[in-house]
Amino acid sequence: MRTAALFSLAFAALAAASDVADLKKDTFNDHIESHELVLAEFFAPWCGHCKALAPEYEEAATTLKEKNISLVKVDCTEQADLCQEHGVEGYPTLKVFRGLKSVQAYPGARKSAAIISYMTKQALPAVSVLDKDTLKDFKTSDSVVLVGYFGADDKASNETFTAVADSLRDSYLFGAISDESVAKAEGVEQPSIVLYKTFDEGKNTFDKKFDEEAIKKFAKAAATPLVGEVGPDTYQGYMSAGIPLAYIFAETEEERKELAKELKSVAETYKGKINFATIDAKAFGQHASNLNLEVGKWPAFAIQDTAKNQKYPFDQGKKVTVKDITAFVDEFSSGKVKPSIKSEPTPENQDGPVTIIVANNYDEIVMDDKKDVLVEFYAPWCGHCKALAPKYDELGELFKPFADKVTIAKVDATLNDVPDDIQGFPTIKLFLAGKKSEPLTYSGGRTVEDLTAWIKENGSHKVDVSADKKEATEEKKEAKPAVVDIDDEIHDEL
Ligand SMILES: *[C@@H]1O[C@H](CO)[C@@H](O)[C@H](O)[C@H]1NC(C)=O
Ligand SMILES: *[C@@H]1O[C@H](CO)[C@@H](O)[C@H](O)[C@H]1NC(C)=O
Ligand SMILES: *[C@@H]1O[C@H](CO)[C@@H](O)[C@H](O)[C@H]1NC(C)=O
Repeated sequence: MRTAALFSLAFAALAAASDVADLKKDTFNDHIESHELVLAEFFAPWCGHCKALAPEYEEAATTLKEKNISLVKVDCTEQADLCQEHGVEGYPTLKVFRGLKSVQAYPGARKSAAIISYMTKQALPAVSVLDKDTLKDFKTSDSVVLVGYFGADDKASNETFTAVADSLRDSYLFGAISDESVAKAEGVEQPSIVLYKTFDEGKNTFDKKFDEEAIKKFAKAAATPLVGEVGPDTYQGYMSAGIPLAYIFAETEEERKELAKELKSVAETYKGKINFATIDAKAFGQHASNLNLEVGKWPAFAIQDTAKNQKYPFDQGKKVTVKDITAFVDEFSSGKVKPSIKSEPTPENQDGPVTIIVANNYDEIVMDDKKDVLVEFYAPWCGHCKALAPKYDELGELFKPFADKVTIAKVDATLNDVPDDIQGFPTIKLFLAGKKSEPLTYSGGRTVEDLTAWIKENGSHKVDVSADKKEATEEKKEAKPAVVDIDDEIHDEL
């Protein structure tokens, strides 16, 4: 009896040692629904970034417990279904839950202080209740703030506005005021929403029927400046906007402000067709080389067709003036400007195991409709690419006897403009004979065996090189899992 009691005490102590709840398929939903605010980590035991996060996460959990904020974890190697249900694609994935319906990615650093600060802010109400006196300061407390004007008894408007605030609270500040006389003084009728901003026209009003989607759309459009700024926070948004982006490179903030002001008229003309944004040439000048501009010659201007990844640099021998830029943008818009193509010289021979692709011979090699062409898009600085290089050479050798059917090729995507949208290095694609418009992207292990099997099974020609079995088996042991630590793969240019 006595021993048993001691044991259970010891177990109780062990269990209490962690403030991070370890959730499983049958406990996850209950836990999320019974806690107002939860941060969940989806992890795998083998993942390095997860191991580094663990002590930070524990520390944050202990602090946040006192504020009723729960930190949980889910081991995706045991709870595969649960992780798939929540769209987990890499480890660790951190998500903020307010019930099961409101879920957002955790955007902060993976350090206890950052987690504590972010989650504490999340626990505050999303909408600040304002009055006549606090409104004035609130309007200018950030570059974009939204204020809801609705009556104290208008529960429906209040709820809709609060729901929008909950989902956009990371992007903008939200306030609300029920005093009708204040709404009148601001020149609006209840219910409506005013977005106050420190740029362009200063404010925009939403006075249609309160609807979550409509308000979100309004906020996004009104908060995007006519001439914005490209930076780490905005780059992805511009890239996925579906329209070209015109960059204005300048070194100082004054210069950028000045140019933005001058070029506003062009931006106005092409609003909704081309985005315009300044970019800090001191901090992100290297990005100019991606647009085929010479780094260091500032100010500079270029347009990027984000859909086709084509670049249209403005002649750096000319000055960036409203007149010349307007003419350039007009010509671009009417299709008269040719994209600039960056290319290494075409190789004189292709004697190596792997065919070398440059921009100039890309079409000739990749689009050869008779062959399955495997292309590795690499960057010279990428560690995983270096690790792959000897195996890729081996792969090239193996396919040499089948050169009429399969080409194993690689391209340095930092020195050559390729039409493909490359998100990380290395990216490996197979361009199929007879089906060039739908290349397959490889996501398997980076081993000779896996790659040859993939080409055999998925290539148009089904070429089987029957790789040396023994060697291949050994390699399989060190194959990387298909899901990798997210940070390893993506190189953020900005
Ligand atoms: C935490 O939540 C419980 C139950 O909902 C509640 O009784 C308690 O007052 C809360 N504590 C704090 C600090 O909010
Ligand atoms: C909106 O509803 C909340 C919760 O009922 C309340 O505290 C707040 O005062 C309301 N806002 C306005 C502007 O009436
Ligand atoms: C062929 O492609 C399919 C779909 O992408 C994939 O599931 C399969 O594993 C591939 N075959 C090999 C041998 O990798």
